[in-house]
Amino acid sequence: MSDVVEKAVAPAPVSASSAPVVRIKLALDKWEREQARQLRREVFCAEQGVFQDDDTDAIDAIAMPIVAVMEAPDGSRSVVGTVRIHESAPGVWHGSRLAVAQHARRIGSVGSGLIRLAVCTAHAHGCHTFLAQVQSQNAPLFRRLHWQTLAEIEVHGRPHHQMQADLAFYPPISDGERGFLAGQREERAA
Ligand SMILES: CC(C)(COP(=O)(O)OP(=O)(O)OC[C@H]1O[C@@H](n2cnc3c(N)ncnc32)[C@H](O)[C@@H]1OP(=O)(O)O)[C@@H](O)C(=O)NCCC(=O)NCCS
Repeated sequence: MSDVVEKAVAPAPVSASSAPVVRIKLALDKWEREQARQLRREVFCAEQGVFQDDDTDAIDAIAMPIVAVMEAPDGSRSVVGTVRIHESAPGVWHGSRLAVAQHARRIGSVGSGLIRLAVCTAHAHGCHTFLAQVQSQNAPLFRRLHWQTLAEIEVHGRPHHQMQADLAFYPPISDGERGFLAGQREERAA
């Protein structure tokens, strides 16, 4: 998609509902990708101090970004979560930079939804092995989502688990541009 046709600001709402809903989807529009990068800076630089001012790296040039978009009752939209995926070798995919805005954590499986679309999208692209370096405090969350620890490692001077997803619980999703509502897509073994 070229910059010419990309929307620089959040589009007008399709509908306004009485409660906020969060849609997990591929980040196709420019405003979604820009807000995702801003959220990453807030979480990984300002909040966690893993990076100083900017967490951009070479993987961003090849990665597929995924976002969680919250639609408020007044119809406004904003990115409240993000993750990115990339393929490093045929069939070997990685997820990284998973972040949910503080106000959107533990409210309705936003993080879990991002993990789900990340792995299911990779599966639809021929993934046979999906890996992530998970901050150790988050390993219990991933274990509940059918990941297993392969090794305990240090990344950026912090304890991490090298983890792998059980793809049987992540059936391929090829309509990621539409995505799904957080908390509304049940996990199931393929
Ligand atoms: C980790 C993170 C993405 C989780 O996002 P979230 O939207 O709160 O996750 P969910 O709501 O989908 O969590 C699902 C469940 O796991 C629990 N959970 C969330 N984080 C957890 C953690 N660190 N350890 C154990 N359980 C956790 C939630 O309470 C929830 O349980 P429930 O369904 O019984 O309420 C978010 O806390 C975050 O952005 N943290 C800062 C950045 C970070 O650590 N990134 C990950 C790098 S590996």
